[in-house]
Amino acid sequence: MTATVTGQRADQAPTTRRGSYWITTFGCQMNKADSERMAGILEAMGYRPGDDEHTADLVLYNTCTIRDNAEQKVYSYLGRQAQRKRANPGLTLVVAGCVAQQEGEALLRRVPELDLVMGPQHANRLETLLTRVENGQQVVATEEHHILEDITTARRDSAVCAWVNVIYGCNEHCTYCVVPSVRGREQSRRPEAIRREIEDLAARGYREITLLGQNIDAYGRDLPGITGEGRREHTLTDLLRAVHDVRGIERIRFATSHPRYFTDRLIDACADLPKVCEHFHIPFQSGDDAVLRAMARGYTVERYRRIIDRIRERIPDAAISADVIVAFPGESDAQYRRTLDLIEAIGFDQVNTAAYSPRPGTPAADWPDQLPEEVKVARLHEVNALVERVAAARSARYLERTEQVLAEGINPRDPSQLMGRTRTNRLTFFSADAGDGRPWVPGDLVDVVIETVRPFSLSGRPLGRDRVR
Ligand code: SAH
Ligand code: SF4
Ligand code: F3S
Repeated sequence: MTATVTGQRADQAPTTRRGSYWITTFGCQMNKADSERMAGILEAMGYRPGDDEHTADLVLYNTCTIRDNAEQKVYSYLGRQAQRKRANPGLTLVVAGCVAQQEGEALLRRVPELDLVMGPQHANRLETLLTRVENGQQVVATEEHHILEDITTARRDSAVCAWVNVIYGCNEHCTYCVVPSVRGREQSRRPEAIRREIEDLAARGYREITLLGQNIDAYGRDLPGITGEGRREHTLTDLLRAVHDVRGIERIRFATSHPRYFTDRLIDACADLPKVCEHFHIPFQSGDDAVLRAMARGYTVERYRRIIDRIRERIPDAAISADVIVAFPGESDAQYRRTLDLIEAIGFDQVNTAAYSPRPGTPAADWPDQLPEEVKVARLHEVNALVERVAAARSARYLERTEQVLAEGINPRDPSQLMGRTRTNRLTFFSADAGDGRPWVPGDLVDVVIETVRPFSLSGRPLGRDRVR
């Protein structure tokens, strides 16, 4: 999953007099989904969206600790707010998410101005926790917690595409990764609750959903139930089939897939179910078997290749994206070259790259064979250049093709254009002018003839409304 920083602002009218809030979200889609739920809770409590981080009455940082630089970013943001709080004690300062979980009380010692430190499992409890803050307490909520079904309505950033959590946490033991320690054990939501959420989204006009889990292939393994054929009753494949017919939803995506658990049954379901988009995000992390073993990933490069071959047999045009780590402890030059070879051989549409960053409490952080910074920088630089070249080659196939694009919003760089994504997840820009006096708007499915290709995005000319499927 990509780690980005997004500011959350709202355009709705204020509701009551509790003051304004600001949320900044770091990290992955899980955090974005949690932020949307927390924003919904704040608005239900009577907070209104603020338009400036530095004047809001409540500031919430939803944090990420996947790599050291993500964690450090939070401290620099917090420093500024702590200073503001000293001059303005009425400010409420909240740290949520993965740094909160990792650091807990230590965060209060480091930034005594904080009012509330809350781990990701407590996102739905924001109101209860803030009530304790209002009663004068400084609160740390990081204990393991059964995630309650969300009873509030999230305030979602998009009116077209929505995240839907299906499994929280992760039970894997990848030796580099903090996620299991900050997100806790796997907890799958019941399929009925997921379906209800999707039906509600459809009723409110959403057209695309992305089912979310750190290891989405683990979906259902903590739920009871065995079928007549002796297999688990609840799997991602079954879930896709169970939600596929929700009327109004046109596109279904899911992330993140794990090569260890990815099944042929899932590929078959994706090929059969028309709403499931032709895009797979399957991190491989390394192109070398010994490194994969050291990472405790539980698969070989050969298995990974077979998964991709099988996808391409069934869904020839499918886009494949992934995550990779370079300069893992002990990674030799030859092993690193095998990662480059795999990227080239697969021909990825997109790869999120990272240099290994030692994380507190993870096994690999204590290994003696850490690589020097200059090796990390050099490898990251080289792998990025390769990813861009390979992605450009993949983009080239779209030239002059007609692609269905779901319009998601206005292009911020050119308001005469809309932007959206192809079913294969390529960002695409096109003119909002539909040629009939009624412009295209977010939520429309538009056939776009691709005229310009770039490594990670496309531009094109929309066909008329009569062509819409
Ligand atoms: N659950 C997903 C990944 C979640 S973390 C999976 O299993 O693939 C998102 C990405 O961050 C990972 O895929 C990995 O590429 C990267 N990452 C995680 N820990 C890292 C670390 N310690 N250093 C560098 N990159 C890391
Ligand atoms: Fe981290 Fe591995 Fe779990 Fe992904 S599967 S979140 S990399 S421990
Ligand atoms: Fe970061 Fe936590 Fe996601 S560490 S990548 S925000 S699960």
